[in-house]
Order: sequence, then C-alpha cells, then structure tokens
Amino acid sequence: MYAFKINGGKKLFGTVEIKGAKNAVLPIMAAALLTDQPVILNNVSPLSDVCVMTQLLKSFGATVQEQDDTLTIAANAVNNTIAIYDFVSKMRASFWVLGPLLARFGHATVSLPGGCTIGARPVDIYLKALEEMGAHIKIENGYVVAHGPLHAADIFFRRVSVGATHNTLMAAVLTPGTTVIHNAAMEPEVLDLIEALKKMGANIHWKEPKVLSVTGVSRLGGVTHTVVSDRIETASFIVAAAVTKGRLFLKGGRLDLIEAITDVIKKSGIVFTPHADGFDVDATNATLTAVPVTTSEYPGFPTDAQALITTLFSIAAGESITTENLFENRLMHIPELQRMGAHIQILNNQSVLIKGVSHLSGTTVMASDLRGGVALVLAALAARGETIVKRIYHIDRGYYRLEEKLKAVGADIERIKTPV
Ligand code: UD1
Repeated sequence: MYAFKINGGKKLFGTVEIKGAKNAVLPIMAAALLTDQPVILNNVSPLSDVCVMTQLLKSFGATVQEQDDTLTIAANAVNNTIAIYDFVSKMRASFWVLGPLLARFGHATVSLPGGCTIGARPVDIYLKALEEMGAHIKIENGYVVAHGPLHAADIFFRRVSVGATHNTLMAAVLTPGTTVIHNAAMEPEVLDLIEALKKMGANIHWKEPKVLSVTGVSRLGGVTHTVVSDRIETASFIVAAAVTKGRLFLKGGRLDLIEAITDVIKKSGIVFTPHADGFDVDATNATLTAVPVTTSEYPGFPTDAQALITTLFSIAAGESITTENLFENRLMHIPELQRMGAHIQILNNQSVLIKGVSHLSGTTVMASDLRGGVALVLAALAARGETIVKRIYHIDRGYYRLEEKLKAVGADIERIKTPV
C-alpha cells in the first residue's frame, strides 16, 4: 500500500500539463471494439483505469500498444466476448464493452458491476435500452448474457446517464436504421466519444439538446484521435492553486469545459487568463469565498468536482450548503475533512453545511474514492503540518503520478509505503 506524505502551506507556482480525460479515454477504448481497423488515441496518461481497460481489451483478443502518450488498439482478432468479474469489479467502465461487443459480434457476456462506495449505481437504463433495440438479455450467475440481432429504436432514458449514453451510442452505430436516444448525457466526454465515432464513419447528430439520432452503418473504420482535456484534473489544479494562494499555468486545460466551476470560484477573486495552449489561474490575491453549490448533469456543476470544492470552501469566508444530486453516497471525504479541523455539518445523505475555518491541520486520513481522495490531498496542501493520505490507489485511478506534478510546482509531497 502507498500513501502521500504532505507538508502543507507551500504556495504552488509553475506549469502543470493537463492530459486527456480518463472519462473520455475509457469509452473510446471500448469503441475500438467496433472496428477491425486500428484506433490510435493521443494525449493518454497511463492511469490505472486505462491499464484495466487495456487488460480487458486484451482478454478479448485485441492488441493494445502504448508508446509515450499514444495508445494503439487493434480489435481485428477478437476471439472472446466475455468480460469477467475481475475487470468489471475493479472498474465499472468495463461494463461499457457490452454495447460495442453486442453490436459487432451479436453476443456478449459481461459481469454486472454491483455497487461501489459512492452509490448503488444500477445499470437498468443500459439494459432497458438494449432490450428496446431487440437484445435478448438474461442475468445468469452475476453476468448479463446478451444476444442480438439489434434493431433501431426510439429510446427514452428515465434519467440522464453518461455510461448508458456511451453504451447505447456504441450499440446503435452498427445497428441498421435510425435509433433516437432521448434524455442523453451531453458531458464533454460524451461529445468526445461522438467525435471519435464520427471520424470512424458513424452517422450521429444531435436532433436537439439531449436528443441524439444515430443511423447505423454496416462497418466502421479506424481513427486517430486526440482525447479531450481532463476537466476534472483541471479543476483539481485550480483548487490546488486556490487553497495555496498560488499561480499555475494549466497547459492543455480548457476553460470552456469548466464554466460551472469557474463561476463559483471567480467570486473568490481568482483570476483566469486564457492563452492559446491553456490558461493561467492566479489566486495570489484571492479571498476565498463560499457560495452554494448543487451538482447536476453537464453543463451544471459536476459531481466529480463536489469534493474538491468542499475542500476549498472549508477554508473560505462564510457559510455554504453543498448538495450532491447524482450519487447517494458521495460524502465519504467529509468525516476525514472534519478530522483535519473543517467545520462541516452533514445535513442529510446529500447535503452539507460548510462553515469556513481559518486553517486546517494535518493528520492521517484515508481516501475512500477517487475524487474524495484528491479532495484530501488538496486539503493537506493547505493544512498546517503534516498529513498522511492513505489508500491512494483510489487516486491513481484518475491522476497519473499526482505527486510528481504537484512537486514540480512547489508542493512538499512524497509517495511513501505503508503497511496497511
Ligand atoms: C460517469 C463518470 C463519473 C461521473 C458520472 C456522472 C466515467 C468513467 N465515470 O459515471 O466520473 O461522476 O458519469 O457525471 O466516465 N443510473 C441509474 N441507472 C443506470 C445508470 C445510471 O440509476 O442504468 C444512475 C446512477 O446510479 C447515478 C446517475 O444515474 O446516480 C448518474 O450516473 P451515470 O451518469 O450513469 O454515471 P457513470 O456513467 O457511471
């Protein structure tokens, strides 16, 4: 097991490179199963989740080569369409291979993911959509066993789901006729998947916001695609600059993807200056100020940034209520922030009341999920004294060598081995 040892209070200055979004790389890797031609993805960090998807694709008989920040995937010799529990239980996005396998090969057997620390996370929307497209689906021994053939359908999602949008899209691109998905997710990572699929020859367009029209084609070709910038990694470094009163140039960061986040942070007097290849975030004269935040689907405030902003507001002036609307159990970082001296009252499963304090203090804390874990690292950067953040394998899922990026801009952080 590894942990981060952080001595807080260092202002961060310098350049941080923001890489391709984990949440865009993963669905596009799954989309490589739709073609026998090579799919080449640039701007990819070797995150542990990317490694899990790589192993999963290899288990189907695909080849995956990594060189620098480029992944080359060839699914021309797929000889297995079973996604085993070991992969899906490690990373839920593994479930997204269901749609492309079923569309291209006519059958797929994919382990059900089960719940996770942030919520029950059912997959009913995925399965209902595929059934409406003609799939015969049985649940056997914890697996979804699905058979085609698929046909086009008019599909209404009961709620917006990023993963169900990815999965249904990937099923529809090779399915004859025009499938319409109502209440589809519009996250930048969905748009990135659509861009890659279109370059592969897919026929997809937005009929109106949240309504996607997909006309199936008989085959898709290969693609070279540069993955969209990671808006949550970007938000994480913005908060890092803010809580340390530093100034960072986020190379490759995209302000246009994080307006909901900059809107709530701008009130703290943080200055954002766009450049051709990124932007500056300057918090040297900031007065951190709390405002109410409610998470919702894009373009609303992202659930993945909820824990990050809670850390920021825990040392801001004033009070604020933060409400998590997407997942039912995404407040696991709060008791750990409380142990660092934050005044946060849990109002119910979804909402917290944050009363800013003048400073946090270091102690040993435990990451329980990816974004909640990073929120603790950000708190530690601002805190007085030493903090040990344990169970950082959660953080490695979505941040590649976070400690090196932070150290390069002045943080006192190291990765240490711990017995538990
Ligand atoms: C993706 C992101 C995750 C982000 C989330 C919301 C990846 C790898 N993960 O997760 O980081 O926090 O979008 O932006 O890209 N739901 C159902 N039934 C379903 C599907 C979803 O009830 O069949 C519910 C979920 O439990 C959740 C809500 O819908 O409460 C939204 O989930 P969804 O958008 O599907 O999240 P993911 O795609 O799993």
